[in-house]
Amino acid sequence: MEKIGLFFGSDTGCTEAVAEMIQEQIGQDKVELLDAYDIDKSDFDRYDKIIIGLSTWHDGELVSAWDDFFEDFKEIDFSGKTIAIFGLGDQYGYSTYFIDGVGILGKVVLENGGKLIGYTSTEGYEHDESKAETEDGKFMGLAIDEDNQDELTEERVLDWIEQIKKEFPIE
Ligand SMILES: Cc1cc2nc3c(=O)[nH]c(=O)nc-3n(C[C@H](O)[C@H](O)[C@H](O)COP(=O)(O)O)c2cc1C
Repeated sequence: MEKIGLFFGSDTGCTEAVAEMIQEQIGQDKVELLDAYDIDKSDFDRYDKIIIGLSTWHDGELVSAWDDFFEDFKEIDFSGKTIAIFGLGDQYGYSTYFIDGVGILGKVVLENGGKLIGYTSTEGYEHDESKAETEDGKFMGLAIDEDNQDELTEERVLDWIEQIKKEFPIE
């Protein structure tokens, strides 16, 4: 089976832990983890199914590894590729920038021809604003808040995996 590339960036390890959970749940043999610090554009050529993970920092900025890679990211042609994004953030501490990074990368994916899957409901979150929110009130991916709702992380991740397995689709 063709592998899924899971590209993640994580400053303090929270996004990395979720990335590892996703890899374990879908299957070590099916998902390859790539740290965004060590990637270049050609790494995206190897996958038609991609998962992106990132946290948001400093009032709506991309986590450092994705921030460093962003100019290259904007040049990737995502046509023919299916992409799911998950984001880590703090809905109370940064309530007007909650998981903005998901919206920033998701916008590029859509502009560059990718098929974005894995949209989720904003129900159960108390943020005020997010660049990840669509006009019809959904997140452009999975929102994880380890700072305030870590008890919900596992269930959120498992539900999302079931969803994206169907949407990719993967067996
Ligand atoms: C200085 C600082 C700035 C932050 N800025 C944001 C932000 O703008 N939006 C947000 O949703 N979360 C923000 N956060 C929360 C982090 O995204 C969150 O703690 C996340 O779990 C970190 O994940 P990582 O360890 O994978 O980098 C911030 C946290 C810190 C300490």
